[in-house]
Amino acid sequence: MKYKGIILLSIIMMLIICLPRPSGHNYEVESIIDYDKGISVHYPKTGDEKLDDRIYAYISRLIREHDESGKRDALLSVSFDCYSSVFTVIRFKITLQKQSSTRSTYLTNTRYNYFFTLKKNEPVMTIAYMGGEKSEESPKGKKLVALTFDDGPSEHTISILNTLDNYGVKATFCVLGTKVGSYSSTIEIMHSGGHEIANHTFSHQKLTSLKDDEMQKEVQRTQDAVYNITGEYPTFLRPTYGAINSRVRTGIDLPLLMWSKDTLDWKSRDANYIFSQAINGLNDGDIILFHDIYPSTAEAIEKLIPYLLDNGYCPVTAKELFALRGKEPSSGTAYFSSKDST
Ligand code: NI
Repeated sequence: MKYKGIILLSIIMMLIICLPRPSGHNYEVESIIDYDKGISVHYPKTGDEKLDDRIYAYISRLIREHDESGKRDALLSVSFDCYSSVFTVIRFKITLQKQSSTRSTYLTNTRYNYFFTLKKNEPVMTIAYMGGEKSEESPKGKKLVALTFDDGPSEHTISILNTLDNYGVKATFCVLGTKVGSYSSTIEIMHSGGHEIANHTFSHQKLTSLKDDEMQKEVQRTQDAVYNITGEYPTFLRPTYGAINSRVRTGIDLPLLMWSKDTLDWKSRDANYIFSQAINGLNDGDIILFHDIYPSTAEAIEKLIPYLLDNGYCPVTAKELFALRGKEPSSGTAYFSSKDST
């Protein structure tokens, strides 16, 4: 027994000595790339699909230059996380993991975060630097607005998603659990497109009128329905009718996503009116309420997105809105805008 113990201890010691250490490097890299010339800006959210050759070559060179362990034979795998989008500029955070060529498991301690800015109609140029400097294109300096869509998915959601994707813009969809199953492919498209999915209860019941256990069930069923499709739980609760009280705040373990601008799209069903409601007195940090169940809303979005982009607004998801303003939403707090919460 004692002998076995010594062998085990030796193996552990060997592992501690031999395993690759975190490099300690923390590069932030900016690369401005013309993606009109066939470079796709959509990378897989997870997985090991190859990067396009130019970005791949660029990253490989950086790693070779800056990290000794890069000289070893290793395969690169990439996961992608959209950082934000501004105008024609799309910021990506790309996390690279090195995969040993002799092992199938990821060495998770060799991890690199890169930030890329992809900009239309610019020649390829690269600026690499260490540390956390921010680019001039940082969305932090823009007027941020979060577009939020309630009561879907519906047959009109795809049209809205197409418009958003055409401009590289992300939004937040506050879905009803009852519709998640019948629109599972729409949910998949939302998720893979980098949009945010929030919870708008299961069957649109007013939570303040329910008993605690019923209230929690209304929320949990939608959490589970979304998770079953995307593998991720919704990040916010959008309370039905905006109705909250102390029981909702304490009984639901999610931040409450309210709004500061109501387009009243459900009432007017008029694209021009919805558009003007959205832009009238629009401020930095506003959260705009729409419903992705009307063709008039889909039509208004077609007009709204180019307007926002041309007028210095950066549409972001709710999650991005708070992250870019340095706030971490907490359960039980109601968020009306990036500046206003109770
Ligand atoms: Ni609703």
